[in-house]
Amino acid sequence: MTNSYSVRIHNRQTGTEHTFQVPEDRYILHSVENQGGALPFSCRNGACTTCAVRVLSGDLYQPEAVGLSPKLREKGYALLCVSYARSDLEVETQDEDEVYELQFGRYFARGKVRFGLPLDED
Ligand code: FES
Repeated sequence: MTNSYSVRIHNRQTGTEHTFQVPEDRYILHSVENQGGALPFSCRNGACTTCAVRVLSGDLYQPEAVGLSPKLREKGYALLCVSYARSDLEVETQDEDEVYELQFGRYFARGKVRFGLPLDED
């Protein structure tokens, strides 16, 4: 028997809020899309941060979120394309490129993209 959780998404770009039921063994992004929700994404495998959100409440599990530094995970960011709900959740979409710029800075955002683990420095 699979649990499912209620995931409330505040889309700051469109000013809308929607709630979806997400089984614990399905990626949140995929479940939301199956229910007609539209969220930003690009790589769909935890690398690019396009799908990043801020977690306002609740727990999720994102073992494959290699594109997100431990520091940003601790700050409550998550990559919905590789996240599983572990409780009811409330999340909000990030500002455009917010997570990317927090990790790589504007220098990299201008085109000097490097692949590999993000530098985790202040
Ligand atoms: S779509 Fe790229 S990290 Fe989620």
